[in-house]
Amino acid sequence: MNLLQRCLLSSLLLCVTASEDFDWTKNEKTSFYYGTFPTGFSWGAGSSAYQTEGAWNIDGKGMSIWDAFARKKGKIFLNDTGDSSCEGYYKFKDDINLMKDMKLNHYRFSISWPRILPTGLKSEQINERGIKYYDDLINMLLDNKITPIVTLYHWDLPQVLQEKYGGWQNITMVNYFNDFANLCFDRFGNRVKYWITFNNPWSIAVEGYETGEHAPGLKLKGTGAYKAAHHIIKAHAKVWHTYDMQWRSRQKGLVGISLTADWGEPVDITNQRDIEAAERYIQFYMGWFATPIFNGDYPQVMKDYIGRKSGQQGLGASRLPVFSPQEKSYIKGTCDFLGLGHFTTRYVTLKNYPSSLGDSYFADRDLAELVDPQWPDPGSEWLYSVPWGFRRLLNFVKTQYGNPMIYVTENGVSEKMLCTDLCDDWRMQYFKDYINEMLKAMKDGVNVKGYTAWSLLDNFEWDEGYSERFGLYYVDFRNKNKPRYPKASVQFYKRIISSNGFPNQREVESWKRKSIETCSSSNQLLAAARRQSQGNQEHAGMQKSWPVHDEV
Ligand code: NOJ
Repeated sequence: MNLLQRCLLSSLLLCVTASEDFDWTKNEKTSFYYGTFPTGFSWGAGSSAYQTEGAWNIDGKGMSIWDAFARKKGKIFLNDTGDSSCEGYYKFKDDINLMKDMKLNHYRFSISWPRILPTGLKSEQINERGIKYYDDLINMLLDNKITPIVTLYHWDLPQVLQEKYGGWQNITMVNYFNDFANLCFDRFGNRVKYWITFNNPWSIAVEGYETGEHAPGLKLKGTGAYKAAHHIIKAHAKVWHTYDMQWRSRQKGLVGISLTADWGEPVDITNQRDIEAAERYIQFYMGWFATPIFNGDYPQVMKDYIGRKSGQQGLGASRLPVFSPQEKSYIKGTCDFLGLGHFTTRYVTLKNYPSSLGDSYFADRDLAELVDPQWPDPGSEWLYSVPWGFRRLLNFVKTQYGNPMIYVTENGVSEKMLCTDLCDDWRMQYFKDYINEMLKAMKDGVNVKGYTAWSLLDNFEWDEGYSERFGLYYVDFRNKNKPRYPKASVQFYKRIISSNGFPNQREVESWKRKSIETCSSSNQLLAAARRQSQGNQEHAGMQKSWPVHDEV
């Protein structure tokens, strides 16, 4: 989020009362719905390679753009890196035991492209030791009856491809990514049946190539994000076709994409300009990717706005690239299921950005984002708990994209690093309310097949380093063994899973209390371990041998 947006969020006054009398979720916004999910509904937790694996230069792994970016001073909070992170590369067996204990049905993780193709190119070198790591992980998951849901690209492009070609600015990535995906289908596809091509392409495009907050850190305002997205959409479609033509009949799996989006609610639902602004918010977010993939082209409103603004800026053509008719039909329908990541909601109102302010993705939208100061905001500064927004987003997907099969691939809430309290009451509340809204959406007819809590473990939260913890399990990053401690939400989520939903009021109301019963002893264990590790450090006269940022 840029400075301008932050100022807008904090300085604009809100008028939220009007939305209270709005639409089909009326009277149910705050009411709880008791009921269970359909049999076979899949419960899981998620992670990604760079955020959890560590072992950044082990067993022949090549460097990714995140390895390079995190090494630059000032890019990551406290200049932390994912070099060792949760040491998931070494501890995956322990982690699968945690999943087993929670009785998860699936685990969502990503494959690090440079771990198996160190230079990015299949034609140059395949790293068999990297392949073996994922083989072992997949096999052990299956031995424990946990279905792997595998993301091919969770942001860690091989650094060589960035240096040589400019990464996703370059169309050649389409073929390189397709080669990498094809290798994964070849080696893992006999066991992996759920593939996600890209995780949250909005973030790759906007934060990687427009604001530069994420790797590769480019600030190509007004053009970079659109170009990156254009190539990503083509790469997604190509990989889907590769699977469809070469592997589907043998492997019988599914290929989807995971899109992350906030819900955008008009500030004043009686004001047409606010309604249209909220529509633009969501079309520039999820529609940017979903509309080409499901309906064959960019949303009309993006074409109109970016085209008009490009004209006003004296450009001969729109900054939004164009798909040819052949490309449109090639891209349309390339999604067997939609992965959906969702965390929060915004109120949206019209705000005109004069072209004199310069080009940018944000200015192109002509809107301002607002939040209700009463929304709970436990962790990350952008993340407010607004459960009803989830149901609306799910219904939006249903109506806009022909009721696709949905797997919720990310949903969860963080806490600040200073918080070492494992009794995470607010996270239990967040899960309870968001999962309940998902249940209501399913009652509305939305086709949700599974839910993935983000995340299994506290991990490297990108430019925020280790300062924001999303995990069900707390990871003590100061201890080089990276021990995991269950937060109360582990117990709570376990109860949701074992009941397959929310059976009845009496039972559900006892869950929080019961979950809290165990966390005070975990708190004591953690506190004792931290005292001891501090003592050891002082005793050995050690300087900073692993991150000590929890104390800042
Ligand atoms: C979405 C990203 O995919 C994930 O990597 C990140 O940790 C969460 N958002 C929380 O910010």
